[in-house]
Amino acid sequence: MDIEALRAAGARHLIQGELLSDVVPAIDGPVFVRAAGAEIFDADGRAYLDFNSGQMCSALGHNNPRVTEAVRKGLGVLTHASSVYFNEPQLRLAARLAETFDAPLSRSLFIQSGADSNEAALLFARRATGRTGIGALHLSFHGYTDVTRAISFAASTAGNGPSIPDVHAIPAPYAYRAPVDADGEGWWRPLLAIAFDLLDRECPGNLAAVIAEPLISAGGVIEMPPGYLMALKAGLEERGALLILDEAQTGLGKLGTMYAYQQHGVVPDIMTLSKHFGGGLPVSAMVTTDPVAERALEGGLTFGHSHSSDPIACTAGLASLDEIIEEDVPAKARAIGARWRERMEELQQQFPMVGDVRGRGCLQGVELVRDRATREPAVREAQEIYRDCLGDGLLFSVRGQHRNVLRFVPPFCTGEEQIDRAAAILERALARRS
Ligand SMILES: Cc1ncc(COP(=O)(O)O)c(C=O)c1O
Repeated sequence: MDIEALRAAGARHLIQGELLSDVVPAIDGPVFVRAAGAEIFDADGRAYLDFNSGQMCSALGHNNPRVTEAVRKGLGVLTHASSVYFNEPQLRLAARLAETFDAPLSRSLFIQSGADSNEAALLFARRATGRTGIGALHLSFHGYTDVTRAISFAASTAGNGPSIPDVHAIPAPYAYRAPVDADGEGWWRPLLAIAFDLLDRECPGNLAAVIAEPLISAGGVIEMPPGYLMALKAGLEERGALLILDEAQTGLGKLGTMYAYQQHGVVPDIMTLSKHFGGGLPVSAMVTTDPVAERALEGGLTFGHSHSSDPIACTAGLASLDEIIEEDVPAKARAIGARWRERMEELQQQFPMVGDVRGRGCLQGVELVRDRATREPAVREAQEIYRDCLGDGLLFSVRGQHRNVLRFVPPFCTGEEQIDRAAAILERALARRS
């Protein structure tokens, strides 16, 4: 079958949600056939600079050689094993990973996706505290399973029916669209006070945890203001509740440090990792402390999936971790991030439509507005710019509360020429609409 016949078969036989296909429906988009490093190629041989790193899972570069080689070798040795017992790659990964986080984080559970790591985090938090209330930021995204959909307010859509109980939205500290003056230091304090006031009323004495992304990604590349996570953690401690940080998109070097929490002076009680953890293969982790793990396991907790701790997934995770540490991925993310930020700030000078430039390292966003004074979201323009860039060979995603934020996640192997080429493609698209 040629590609057009295959595409037609896909239209008949695949389920492709509208949200998942982003601005250009899959039926009209490229059919990817191969990739290398920061580029991906379609069936017509066209190259795209992948500033989305796939679904952010190929941030180590497509087909990362170290991960590919480790998996190739591992497949002939131990692909899968019962998760009732330890397997060697799982043990090696647990030990290596534990060296990377700060005390008191010490223990990991390996599963497959970001969503299931967050489900595990909620379950552990609820069991460890003996409470059920969960708070989440109102622009958060933590996954598309029913439990994580309940805490993913950035992705709420009508028609999904009731979700899990005792979940509460609290206001995200979104400086660019804050309901209070966001100029001074600590501007977010009234929002946090409202958050705790709501939580104290909605689940009095029964708050188990608040889950947060240290930099909100799908909700619009929103940075947690300095001091916010520290104050959130302090407020939770006062209430005997836990802080869960979802580092799916921010961990393992992406923001220029091994973990984003290190930039905020807090260590969470529970952290989740996924996305590029497996170097392109599915593996995730829920990480926590000895006391939380012990309390959660009391009374006999049965948890896991058929592919929990799969040796081959752990092999990929280990190779990816080796790459992150030995190649100093955090430094690469800082360098790429600095150059990209420079280009984006130049575009902000040039085009009034570029209302805000934000993010860190290899996770940055550009918020498009029709008018800098009113900040009216440039939603249609964002879609047109996306389409133009796709046509010119640049992939990224359009996210945010109003879907007017261009989100860029270049792989850590992106070279300077590729950064400048991507910025030039974006510049042309902006120029056509100015
Ligand atoms: C912050 C965050 N958490 C969790 C998830 C869900 O991960 P997965 O799609 O692997 O279930 C995502 C996915 O984009 C995410 O951005």
